Amino acid sequence: MTLPEIDKERLPKNVAIIMDGNGRWAKKHGVGRAAGHEAGAKSVRAAVEACRQLGGIKSLTLYAFSTENWRRSKVEVETLFRLLSKYIKIEIDNIHKENIRVVFMGRLGALSARALRDINYSMELTKNNTAMLLCIAMNYGARAEITDATQAIAAEVRAGTLQVEDIDEACFARHLYAPEISDVDLMIRTSGEMRISNFLLWQLSYAELVPLPVLWPDFRKQHLYEAIAEYQARSRRFGGR
Ligand code: FPP
Repeated sequence: MTLPEIDKERLPKNVAIIMDGNGRWAKKHGVGRAAGHEAGAKSVRAAVEACRQLGGIKSLTLYAFSTENWRRSKVEVETLFRLLSKYIKIEIDNIHKENIRVVFMGRLGALSARALRDINYSMELTKNNTAMLLCIAMNYGARAEITDATQAIAAEVRAGTLQVEDIDEACFARHLYAPEISDVDLMIRTSGEMRISNFLLWQLSYAELVPLPVLWPDFRKQHLYEAIAEYQARSRRFGGR
């Protein structure tokens, strides 16, 4: 397989992925949805390793569980949280060794004590790492995030620590769950779908959106390189000429 040419000087700094297609992959292989998610969890390693090895990528944000995903069956929701804990258990030492900092973003207070314990452990262990940020969106919705940022800003105004005139775009971005990723450069969605699905609505303002036809459990490093090559082939003008 030939790897696409990538210009290491023009890598996207902040990359985000909607990991889609686990269910369709399961159906295609005649296995249950849980097996699809299990296979999907393995692809996470390929994405993290590929970003880390390229060198210049500052952050990778993964959409692991949305505020809307609670509508799935209880069994499927439990599977997703079990997989998250398993992923942390298996991968965290390697992630730490690779100098990657892990953060979770979303309405984390609503998660189970077990999930929170694993999440807090991984964030605490890796908090001083500097090579790359791995941001996992859990019980995340972009509208919820914007609402939460607005509430935090309003509370500061009420307390007298922030003036209304000082609320500008930079101030708003500082109140998002993970201010470090407030400008996403490249957003990949697997399975060929073209929806944003309530993901990073503020942060995607100037992102290049690259849909990939591959189902998430089949995602490998090669697919990240293809998406970056597509990103580099586009001309980004940020509203200018
Ligand atoms: C979308 O596929 C995928 C999800 C809702 C969950 C993504 C979760 C993982 C990849 C596993 C655990 C994550 C981590 C970070 C370890 P879908 O079920 O919507 O697929 P479909 O549209 O084909 O049904």
